[in-house]
Amino acid sequence: MTWQELETQCRGCLQCELGQTRTNLVFGVGNPEAEVLFIGEGPGEQEDLKGEPFVGRSGQLLDQYLAAVDLDRRKNIYIANMVKCRPPGNRDPKPEEQDRCMVWLKQQVALMQPKIIVCLGRISAQRIISPEFRVTKEHGQFFEANGILRMGTFHPAALLRNPRQKPDALEDFLALQRKIGEICGRTYE
Ligand code: URA
Repeated sequence: MTWQELETQCRGCLQCELGQTRTNLVFGVGNPEAEVLFIGEGPGEQEDLKGEPFVGRSGQLLDQYLAAVDLDRRKNIYIANMVKCRPPGNRDPKPEEQDRCMVWLKQQVALMQPKIIVCLGRISAQRIISPEFRVTKEHGQFFEANGILRMGTFHPAALLRNPRQKPDALEDFLALQRKIGEICGRTYE
């Protein structure tokens, strides 16, 4: 299956009730041939309207951190969410909605074969790294599983609520930049 075929299939998804209320399915943005995949939680209002992840205030903050380490959502990374459709009223996605939607994310990972996955926030990190993952304790550390390095950092919305964590988040992005240099043998210009 190609990336385009996967995206087309996913866009027709009605496997859970979030499909009934979405404006747009948010498949992801970026370069599916990139070596780094970012995974957020799920679309909010702005993302649902635009069909792109992280386009609200937290997305602007995310873009600043990316720019600080020469990453760009349109060029050298891919950004996806665990859940592709907005939960109404921004409620948390239900476990069964997360389970259904993980099927799409797993196929994205299988096709993309990223070298590094960065989990944005606890919900994503607890799914992708470990159910016990604690962002405040383990952010910025790399864990290897199935040949992919996984790192969890603060969700940008959490940084907007708690700006004192911003220096720690920047350290995580700098650690990511170093890791890209180490394992991908280059830095992005
Ligand atoms: N928060 C997320 O986790 N993902 C988005 O796409 C937007 C906000």
